[in-house]
Amino acid sequence: MTRTEKTKSLKPVGPRMTALADAGKLTSHNADKHWLYQNSVQNPKVEVEFIDRIFAKEFGRKPTLLREDFCGTALLCSWWVKARATNLAVGVDFDGPTLEWGRVNNLAPLGDKADRVTLVQDDVRSVRAPKADVLMASNFSWWGFKTRDELGGYLRNCRASLKPEGLMVMDCYGGPEAQVVQEELREIDGFTYVWDQDHYNPVTGEVRCLIHFDFPKGKRMKRAFSYDWRLWTVPETRDLLLEAGFSRVMVYWEGTDKKGEPNGVFRVSEKGDLAPAWIAYIVAVR
Ligand SMILES: C[S@@+](CC[C@H](N)C(=O)[O-])C[C@H]1O[C@@H](n2cnc3c(N)ncnc32)[C@H](O)[C@@H]1O
Repeated sequence: MTRTEKTKSLKPVGPRMTALADAGKLTSHNADKHWLYQNSVQNPKVEVEFIDRIFAKEFGRKPTLLREDFCGTALLCSWWVKARATNLAVGVDFDGPTLEWGRVNNLAPLGDKADRVTLVQDDVRSVRAPKADVLMASNFSWWGFKTRDELGGYLRNCRASLKPEGLMVMDCYGGPEAQVVQEELREIDGFTYVWDQDHYNPVTGEVRCLIHFDFPKGKRMKRAFSYDWRLWTVPETRDLLLEAGFSRVMVYWEGTDKKGEPNGVFRVSEKGDLAPAWIAYIVAVR
């Protein structure tokens, strides 16, 4: 395992960013892109609860070791070790500066609990140890593998990285709107999150998605993050997981409230629904 090397010493940005956001003073110059990202798209508390629930449903107990692939700033790892004193987390990402940001902003504030997180700077396909109870690949990052060979190789490595009672959890999105070139704006305290589906190729299934941030004053922070992905479908992914040796693959589909709006509760479904845009979890049993 290659561990991250310490880079230049950084200071945590959270308190300053929160103060600027509360005062309506965030701009493209003073805002920190990782802080904006974490406050826009991540919900680690809910993901920890989800992982506990689906693992207990399968194996009748709580999981201990979580590996977060494509962990970026390791926010999920930090929430995982906060959740239980016995929990351990391994975060894998090949980007050193992003890991270092996470170390300073998400792990250091945990004090001793941070000792139960190991960050590994490497390609997710090269790491197999320690064996995990749950392997999570979130925020669609596994879509960076664009061929059956690449994705299949990754999934085989994931299976080999799990304990005999182990689960692989991958998120995905879809629906007709996933193929539309469009921008979706969402207001957040002190800034606006912009999801830009910039390009879609119906022949290859490739998409280019960008994240920008808008502010009450000042210019847009353009292309804070950009993703070059293949929009894999659920059935293709299930087939590849089974070919990789997983014994069973389930799809956790989001329910709806009385108004038909997504309610944040994901349950196993073989049917889904015809929502124009949806998010689901693909869960494979080792
Ligand atoms: C969309 S971010 C996801 C961050 C975080 N997992 C989350 O949930 O928000 C994608 C991350 O995956 C990392 N990444 C992409 N391909 C990778 C690979 N093959 N091996 C390791 N890290 C990879 C990038 O460096 C980046 O930090």
